[in-house]
Amino acid sequence: MNILISNDHAGVELKNAVDRFLKKKGHVVVNLGDNSGDSVDYPDIIHPLAKEISNNKEKIGIIMCGTGNGVSMVANKYKGVRAGLCWSKEIAELIRKHNDANILSLPARFLSIKQALEIVEVFLKTDFEGGRHERRVNKINK
Ligand code: RB5
Repeated sequence: MNILISNDHAGVELKNAVDRFLKKKGHVVVNLGDNSGDSVDYPDIIHPLAKEISNNKEKIGIIMCGTGNGVSMVANKYKGVRAGLCWSKEIAELIRKHNDANILSLPARFLSIKQALEIVEVFLKTDFEGGRHERRVNKINK
């Protein structure tokens, strides 16, 4: 899979762990996030990723900031982007099955690396259920 990842300063450690985890599993990873840990503004590091996913339906993303909220707010401004904030494996499964999320948003300051990688694994292996959920997803864009 072709996976874009991005993060602000609060997500550098988690991003590095996610990057290693994905590459070990054979995915092609494009890192668009901060690597320095110096303070950055989360919109600046998410706009390029969200634009890319909005224009390429087959691509998916994993984004991280302290709470996972700022980055998902930015990403969800883009047409066709469905970023789901996720803090458990159950929610990871449901944002794929029910919402066809194409971006996973992780709250880096509120998850251990182990919890986050388990969430990533579930997110990647779960398919969209379609059916009534497709009708609902199709009603998201105004
Ligand atoms: C940075 O301190 C923090 O505000 C940011 O990582 C994120 O949680 C914003 O939503």
